[in-house]
This record gives sequence, C-alpha cells and structure tokens, in this order.
Amino acid sequence: MISRRTLIKYSGAATLVGTAGAAPINRYPFDPFRAKSFQQKLFIPGGSGPFGVLDVNGPLQMHATTASFPILKGQASPFLLYQTEQAGKAYQNPILRMESGARFQATLHNALPEPTIIHWHGLHTPAAMDGHPASTIGPGARYEYDFIVRNRGGTYWYHTHAHGLTAKQAYNGLASFFLVEDEDQRRLSKALDLRLGETDVPLVIQDKQFDASGRLRYQPNMQESMMGWLGDVILVNLTPNAYFSVTPRVYRFRLLNGSNARIYRLAFVKGKTPLKFAVIGTDGGLLDQPQTVAEAYLAPGERLDVLFDVGQAKPGDDVFLKSLAFDPMENEGPAGHMGVISSRLALGVEFNILKLQVAQGARGATPLPEKLSEIRAIPTAGVPERKIELSMADMRFLINGRSFVLDEISFEVKRGAVEIWSISNPAIGMPHPMHIHGFSFQVVERLNSPGQVSAGARWGRGRTVSDLGWKDTVLVWPGETVKIAVDFSHDFIDSQTYLLHCHNLEHEDGGMMVNFRVNA
Ligand code: C2O
Ligand code: CU
Ligand code: CU
Repeated sequence: MISRRTLIKYSGAATLVGTAGAAPINRYPFDPFRAKSFQQKLFIPGGSGPFGVLDVNGPLQMHATTASFPILKGQASPFLLYQTEQAGKAYQNPILRMESGARFQATLHNALPEPTIIHWHGLHTPAAMDGHPASTIGPGARYEYDFIVRNRGGTYWYHTHAHGLTAKQAYNGLASFFLVEDEDQRRLSKALDLRLGETDVPLVIQDKQFDASGRLRYQPNMQESMMGWLGDVILVNLTPNAYFSVTPRVYRFRLLNGSNARIYRLAFVKGKTPLKFAVIGTDGGLLDQPQTVAEAYLAPGERLDVLFDVGQAKPGDDVFLKSLAFDPMENEGPAGHMGVISSRLALGVEFNILKLQVAQGARGATPLPEKLSEIRAIPTAGVPERKIELSMADMRFLINGRSFVLDEISFEVKRGAVEIWSISNPAIGMPHPMHIHGFSFQVVERLNSPGQVSAGARWGRGRTVSDLGWKDTVLVWPGETVKIAVDFSHDFIDSQTYLLHCHNLEHEDGGMMVNFRVNA
C-alpha cells in the first residue's frame, strides 16, 4: 500500500502520474497509445551528423560532451553525446562501422563535468579495452583504446560504463551502434538489395521522461532505483511517435533495446493482426537460417535483427511496430512506501513504438536466403556447470549473494575452458537481462519458464527465438533457470577481468554486477 504521506508528497504530480498497475488512459504529448499521434518522421542515420554512419578508417578522437538535441518538437533537450570527426565530417554518437578483423583505435576525451568511460558492448576485447568501471576517467582525462575487432559481423553497440553513473549517462545519451561487417553480412545485403540507412535500418528503442521544458528527467526514487527507471515517451532513433515511410518490399531492421529498464514484446501489427517477420540475427550476428515468428521479447541490451516483408500490407496501410501486453512479473512485495513509479507507461502494457506507413513501390526480391551463416554449437558434453544465483536482500538485487565491489573477483575461470552457467532467478523478484562482458555465449536451455515465455519456445529445450545464435545478454524471468554455454578461449596476454551484470541499468549501478577473472 502507498502511505498517506507518500500520496501527499506526490500529489503535486498526481494528474501526470499513474501507479505501476494503473490502466494507461491519460493523454499526454507523445502518448504512445494513440495511433493518430504518430506524425514525426523517423530519424534515419545519414553519412555524418547525429548518429551518422562512420566507416572507421583511422584513429578517432571521441569527445564525451554535453550538447543539446531537438528530440521534442521545437524544444532542444540537453543531452550527452560522443563527438568525433573523420575526413572533415563531424559526427555525434556515430554509428561506427568496421570490418571484422580490423584494428580499432580511439582516444576518449572526457569533456564532461563528471567521470566516464566507454564500453564496447558485445565485443571480445582484452579487459583493459573493455571499459570496465575501474577504467573510469575523470573530467579532462583521456583513455586510449586500441584493439582488433575479433567479433563476427553483427549489430553491436557502445555506451558509457562510468562507475556508478552508467544508468544516468546512458539515459542522457551516451550510447550508439557498433556495426561489424563480414562476408555473411555482405551476402545478405546483396541477396535482398539492402542498403544501410534506406532498407537496412538501425532502430534504437528507448523510453524517456521529459519535463515541461523538454529536459530529460532522471530522478529515480527508492522504488525506481530498485525496479528500474521507466520512461513514458517511446523514442525510436530519438524520435517520439515516429513514422517511417516504406514500400512493399523486404526491410532489415536492426533493433536495439537501449532502454534502461523496459522490456518490449515486439510485434508488427496491422489492425489487430500480428504479421510475420523473420529473425535473422541476435546479439552476436546472423543466425544460421531465418526464423519466422509473429513476436519476440527484447530486453535492455539485447539486439534483434529482423527482416520484415512490407509486402504483407498494401499501399495506404499502416503497420505498427508495437510492444504487446505481457505480465511484467514484478512481484517484489509491498514497496509502496518507497514512492510511486513516476512513469505514465507501466511495464507490460501494450503500446505503439513506430508506424510503418506503406507507400507505392516496387516489390523487390522476396525469397529469403535459406542459409545466412554457420553457427558452430559449443560442445557441452561433460562440461562443468557453474551456478549463478540471483537474489534480493535489503532492496538490492544480488548475484551469488554479492553486490558489486570494484576490485573484488567473484570467481575465476580457466582460459580455454568451456562452462555451463546455470542462471537462476527466484520466483519472487523481477525479470533480469543478464549480460557478460568479453565473451559471446549460447543459450542451451530454459527451465521452468512462465507461460508467456514457454508459449513461444519452439526451438527445443525451452528456448525462444531471442535465445538463438550468439548472445551476450539473456533475459531471465522470475522462477526461471537459464543455462548458457561459454567458451573462455582468448589469445590475450595475462589473465583478464570481466563483468557479469544485469542490464537493467538501475540494477547494474545498484550493484547487481560481479567481476570474474579468466586466468591465463
Ligand atoms: Cu551494455 Cu556492461 O554493458
Ligand atoms: Cu557489455
Ligand atoms: Cu536486474
């Protein structure tokens, strides 16, 4: 129950504020429920400027800095971003693009009034290049990155990992894509005539709150620090209530959940009918073959590469990328005394994300390639199993009973070892998207899943479409045990310390994170 005192305290905002379970009826600017309000043209990355695609061909100077960005109509929102230049062109939060096997060099200049560091999410780098919070640098300082991009082609990303400030800084803008190219990616682009920024579109989905003057609002109370900060304006590529004009052909959408805490149950819906789409990739690149589905969960940190055939609709139709309703399974017990959730958009309600407005156009090539890539299964016979137990105590979420200590090593693994990690989440709690630094993994089994997850588990051993291929983040629902296989082979000198953490960024900053060391 919410105490009377809490109600009085929050009554100033009562017309705007809904409690977590309340029906989402209030109308407000950029309300994602009302289909008619999807009138803002989707921001599409160009060849420079904000989110410009930058084909890295030399050392970069990346300045983490404060700026402003016109997110809401007519209002410039203060924002944090990475500024850089190449060949006389300026970029803000560039979409970095590199060939697999190439060398990446960048100097991070911290022009913020507070500490920061960049983490390359999903990339297999030496620990010193990984942007561990222990590498955080102060205002005015620099950090040198120099590593080989060892990952296969895929949709990766980068974001701040500042010690204790990751959630706030990422929310305020310090994040973008890191695309890795290889032969498989090129073959796919060629077969379907996909062009980045036209028919191959990176889409970062984020939820944010704004105050009346257009400033991003980030003031989690105790309850919101514990559960995660939710926005009520849904942004796709920083565009609220966005529409994208499409023609009846196949599009590739590279979906990134760049939200701090919100889980999406994605579907492409025409009227009331979910249309089919093909999942072609997950966190660590392409699957071996396309998988046709009508919906998929996407948790913070995860990516889903999909092909959507707009030819299923007719010119003049609108198709909405939506988040469908689901049970958020947040049952942390009575927490009302810690303050109400300030978002008008409860976790698990249905809302629109992006309108695809179908225009006339050529049909284009449709048969999807049967084979996309080769995925070698990590051999798991006789492999040791390590228990990773999530829990909660004193309003904090823990991993194996521990809260993050910067220089404490929770456990050690051997270089070259293959391990099964069995991650279990208690039934009382909430869903946690668990993320590993340094190594991609494979999901081998999902046990004791809630019905809304097992209903979509068509791939054997309880796995859903979001579990296929190479992963770096996996959603673990209350009551579930998720087993993943990790191969700790690397060719870096010395032992390497990496992180395992929850990608609900309030949980991560709140200490739901541990170090593990891969011994040489
Ligand atoms: Cu995307 Cu440690 O994070
Ligand atoms: Cu990461
Ligand atoms: Cu969590």
